[in-house]
Amino acid sequence: MIGNERKAAAKKSFSMATVLATAKKLASKITTLHLAVIFVIASIFLAYICVAPPTDLPNWPLYRINTRIWQSLERFGKHVKPYHLRVLTSASQHFESRVLFLITYMDVPDHLHNAGKPLSCEELKTLIDEGNVEPVNLPYLCRVLHAASHFDFLVEAEEHKYELSELGKYLVKSHPKSLNGYVQMIAGDEAFIIATALSRSIFTGNSGFKETYREELLEHLKSDLSFQEIFDRGMADNARLVAPAIIADYPSFGSCKHICDIGGGVGSFLYSVLEYYVYGIKGTVFDLTDVIDGAKKFLEEKSVTHEKISLHTGDFFKNIPEFGCDCYILKDILNNWSDEASNVILNNLFAAVARGNRVLIIERVLHTGGAAEETFKTQMDLTMMAFNPSHSRLRTEEEMYFLLEQSGFVEPQTYPTRAGYSIIESFPDKKQT
Ligand SMILES: C[S@@+](CC[C@H](N)C(=O)[O-])C[C@H]1O[C@@H](n2cnc3c(N)ncnc32)[C@H](O)[C@@H]1O
Repeated sequence: MIGNERKAAAKKSFSMATVLATAKKLASKITTLHLAVIFVIASIFLAYICVAPPTDLPNWPLYRINTRIWQSLERFGKHVKPYHLRVLTSASQHFESRVLFLITYMDVPDHLHNAGKPLSCEELKTLIDEGNVEPVNLPYLCRVLHAASHFDFLVEAEEHKYELSELGKYLVKSHPKSLNGYVQMIAGDEAFIIATALSRSIFTGNSGFKETYREELLEHLKSDLSFQEIFDRGMADNARLVAPAIIADYPSFGSCKHICDIGGGVGSFLYSVLEYYVYGIKGTVFDLTDVIDGAKKFLEEKSVTHEKISLHTGDFFKNIPEFGCDCYILKDILNNWSDEASNVILNNLFAAVARGNRVLIIERVLHTGGAAEETFKTQMDLTMMAFNPSHSRLRTEEEMYFLLEQSGFVEPQTYPTRAGYSIIESFPDKKQT
């Protein structure tokens, strides 16, 4: 035994000595010029992967390196920031969210975008007041704009003049990946009110919505059409943002002939898929009546014909018609519901799909990403607690497979995407008739 340990120690010291000798030899050959070249190449590489925004969809290896780097930097930042400052920052984090909402709500990003030059508080006030019945308070506006520049949504170009930062550009309504609607949904007054109700939900297990309005979100949306519009726009923004990565990372969309998006909202995601696969695929959106009204408007604006995307109203808890589709999507649906409710939806879907048809569950799945992605999913999970009926939640891959299995779906397979979403593909276990 001792002999073996000695041999291992000798081998280790020998290999260490070899490595050191080789390193010394190499070091003696490295000139300042070599170092300068290595430094420049490394800086360009680092700058590229750090600066390239993740939404530009770098290839998978670069995406992984990029994600690792910013996640490590964030983790490092957490360790070096004094703990009491972290507590203080977390305690008032909601004000950052409020400022983001306020500038979006007052159309500051669009005003700055249209002006094409930095604007002062006074100039912005004039533009904001033009579209409002009640004028904004100038000193408060200036303080909010100043805060927005601290949070990196705006840049103070000259003294008291603001322009859009790289982050702020995503708030402009016409930006191809605009998050204007998403911010109004997640950071708006409504979301804050129901988030506040979590201090009651924690005891009752009810959603923030139920605690606030004595009714769940879907009931509430029927009587609050302006929030219905905000909600649909928010979901559409998110669907448009994540669509390119989902489409790129699930090339099998290309083999579908007719895609049914069950609970497809205004059709934003399906539109992105069919915009990519211009020929050969048609689509159907199935959703509640008020949402389908919004979908009509959305698709009319995009000049999409009824032949390309047809719209159908219905209730997936009662019946999902077959529609003759060969691919069925449930995107961001099951995480809104309890296991029992999800089983009803999946059972109805099972009844609709024919043998060989494909079912694609597209949502964020727990424990499939890096630390920062999981933190975002935790925030989403809390959003579910505030917005959706109790027991709605994000699930792990095993929990999703179990749900599918219970409703008769087999061969589940997960495809990760560069959008932080997973696609779980499965097939109905139906015998040939
Ligand atoms: C979170 S949104 C997801 C929308 C869309 N799939 C997306 O990813 O953008 C949930 C959708 O389910 C729809 N929905 C809720 N209950 C429904 C029901 N009983 N029948 C059909 N659709 C329903 C909602 O109207 C809403 O559009």
